[in-house]
Amino acid sequence: MLDLAPKPSDLEPIETASRDAITALQLHRLKWTLQHAYDNVPHYRKAFDAKGVQPADLNQLSDLALFPFTTKQDLRDNYPFGMFAVPREQIARVHASSGTTGKATVVGYSRADLKVWSQVVARSIRAAGGRPGMKTHVAYGYGLFTGGLGAHYGAEELGCTVIPVSGGMTERQVQLIVDFEPDIIMVTPSYMLAILDEFRRQGCDPRKTSLKVGIFGAEPWTNAMRLEIEQAFDMHAVDIYGLSEVIGPGVANECVETKDGLHIWEDHFYPEIVDPVSGQPLPDGTVGELVFTTLTKEGMPVIRYRTRDLTRLLPGTARSMRRMEKVTGRSDDMMIIRGVNVFPTQIEEHILKDQTLAPHYQIVLTRVDRLDAMEILVEAAESATEADRASSATTLQQRLKGSIGLSCNVTVTPPLGIERSQGKARRVVDKRSKI
Ligand code: DLL
Repeated sequence: MLDLAPKPSDLEPIETASRDAITALQLHRLKWTLQHAYDNVPHYRKAFDAKGVQPADLNQLSDLALFPFTTKQDLRDNYPFGMFAVPREQIARVHASSGTTGKATVVGYSRADLKVWSQVVARSIRAAGGRPGMKTHVAYGYGLFTGGLGAHYGAEELGCTVIPVSGGMTERQVQLIVDFEPDIIMVTPSYMLAILDEFRRQGCDPRKTSLKVGIFGAEPWTNAMRLEIEQAFDMHAVDIYGLSEVIGPGVANECVETKDGLHIWEDHFYPEIVDPVSGQPLPDGTVGELVFTTLTKEGMPVIRYRTRDLTRLLPGTARSMRRMEKVTGRSDDMMIIRGVNVFPTQIEEHILKDQTLAPHYQIVLTRVDRLDAMEILVEAAESATEADRASSATTLQQRLKGSIGLSCNVTVTPPLGIERSQGKARRVVDKRSKI
């Protein structure tokens, strides 16, 4: 594989700044953020007042622990635009991700936020080995999901030639890779495996493509999968992390020269690790729940946002900013299927809408042809006829496709067909092998 490590002169000064310089910048920006949130977002004013803290109480970075957390529920309670800190007219774009109630979690960006976002994604692509002039194939979905547009503007910012393919139509993905000869691909790792299969199906040698690096994220993936993809395509595979509530992709990225976890772009996002149960801050090196406070966001600052992602913080290596270990699990029950976030309750909501279905169900996740597949087993109501069963399966399938955008199989079982729980219901049976 090619040596794609950037030259020191290619880096922004902050990427190799001293820890003292980074923490001084963080403290300055954190004070601004707390004041901005307190002054402009009623939710934060109320939450700070309820905890008896004021922005002026922050004198050092560790004082952040005095401030209240923000959760996805807070965003939902303020749906759709209640968390914005600038007048709506100054919000240049919104994105959204789905949540447990079926209602989206909405995020908003000022023009300056969009610029910062492009810059951190550009920095991420450069860390992954990208350079101005390289062709970048973007196969993350475009739309309310932050993956496609986030990758797109970041690649443009770096000076790449962007090929905005979006997700799906796997045959065409292969065709475009062969014809346009991109250097970089940005896509979820599971979809990259589907693209790999399509290469093989078409009798094309994936090792002969022009691809030099893949930038994979939006879902957990292992080092074993990295190896598999790197060998299959003879290219580098690096990890990109982010979440819409914080900004989108580009919160943290691996460096191609080390591939030892993701450097967090700490000049814009302040990380903490807390005990998922008690909420107590944990020291660097200890696994816990990742919490982020934005440092520069105008449109929708977030204070101590509980990501539910489990990882630990490690010292910097290729950059002076700290790293987070690859995220492998979440502290709640969210499923990530083909890069789409789904909660069991979103499915339950639709099941409960149908009188001919009983509220007993189970979600079975498998990996078919390397793509995640979801099957929903749900019981027919006692009163349901044979015809009801067939139509309720189709209806549920269509509703789920319409609301969460995922195709799935639905099997309607006879009454008592689903195992009853003796405590908590086991809603999800995850049979996907952890490669
Ligand atoms: O998935 C943003 C993104 C797009 C990141 C493209 C990277 C590439 P959300 O849809 O809000 O945003 O989902 C965020 O996805 O809390 C993690 O649980 C998971 N996630 C994102 N990146 C990774 C990763 C985008 N590299 C949620 N490894 C996060 C593991 C990831 N999980």
